[in-house]
Amino acid sequence: MQPDAEHAQEHEHAPADTGASDAQGDVPELHRRRIRSFVTRAGRVSTGQRRALDELGPRFVLPFDTHALDWDAVFGRPAPRILEIGFGMGATTAEIAAHRANDDFLGLEVHEPGVGALLKLIEEQQLSNIRIIQHDAVEVIEHMLPKGSLDGVHIYFPDPWHKARHHKRRLIQPPFVATLASRIKSGGYLHLATDWQNYAEQMLEVLSADPTLANTAADYAPRPDYRPVTKFERRGLRLGHGVWDLLFKKI
Ligand SMILES: C[S@@+](CC[C@H](N)C(=O)[O-])C[C@H]1O[C@@H](n2cnc3c(N)ncnc32)[C@H](O)[C@@H]1O
Repeated sequence: MQPDAEHAQEHEHAPADTGASDAQGDVPELHRRRIRSFVTRAGRVSTGQRRALDELGPRFVLPFDTHALDWDAVFGRPAPRILEIGFGMGATTAEIAAHRANDDFLGLEVHEPGVGALLKLIEEQQLSNIRIIQHDAVEVIEHMLPKGSLDGVHIYFPDPWHKARHHKRRLIQPPFVATLASRIKSGGYLHLATDWQNYAEQMLEVLSADPTLANTAADYAPRPDYRPVTKFERRGLRLGHGVWDLLFKKI
C-alpha cells in the first residue's frame, strides 16, 4: 500500500481528553499536541474484509490494553517474538509468518481495511502464528511490550512523509527508536526497509546514533531472504528506483 501522506491534513490530532495532566502538572494533556506517524483515513472495507473482521477478529485481533501482553498465553506456546509495525495489507506479514512457522508475529496497523486483508490471508493460509492489534504502535509499544521482550522488529516501507514540513511525522526518530530498542532483547534485531532515499539516510543516521544498537552491515544491508520483494517494490526496481534495507542488532 502506498502512503497518502501528501494528502495529510496539516493539523495534528490531539489525544482524547483523559482529564489527566502531564508531568509538569499544569498543562492539561488535551492541550499538548501529539504528532502521529499516520492520519486516520476512512478507507473502504470490502465485503470480504468485513466478514473476516467479524468472524476472525475475535480470535486474531487483540484489544489495545495498558497491561503487558502475555505472548505465551496468546499464542499458546513459548516462541521467538517478532513485532511488525504498519503491516499495510499484510501480504509480507503473511508470507514471512508462513515461512517462519516457529516464530510468533504481532502485527500493528491502524488502517482497518489492512487488518481485514491480513485476516483473510490468515484464514486462506491457515496461519496460527499471527496476532493483530489495530492501534497506534507508539502506544502499544509503550504500554504492552516490556523492556527486553522482543526477538525482532520489522518496519517495512513506513510512510516516508515526503515533504520537509511533514518530516516530524516520520516514525523513525531518536526518541521512538530508543524506546523501541529498549523492548528488544540483547542479540535481537531491528529490520527496516524503505524506497525513499532521504528517509533511508535518516534511518541510518538515527539507528547508528543509538548506543544500544549495532549495524550488521557497513551501512545498508543486503535484503535478508525472509523479506519477500513486494509487487510494488518489484515495479519500482524495474523502473530503476532503489530500496534500502537496514539490519541492526540490539547490543
Ligand atoms: C506506507 S504503508 C506500508 C505498509 C506495508 N508495510 C508495506 O510494505 O506495504 C505504512 C503503514 O504504516 C501504518 N502506520 C503508520 N504509522 C503507524 C502507527 N503509529 N501505528 C500503526 N500503524 C502505523 C499506516 O497505516 C500504513 O498502513
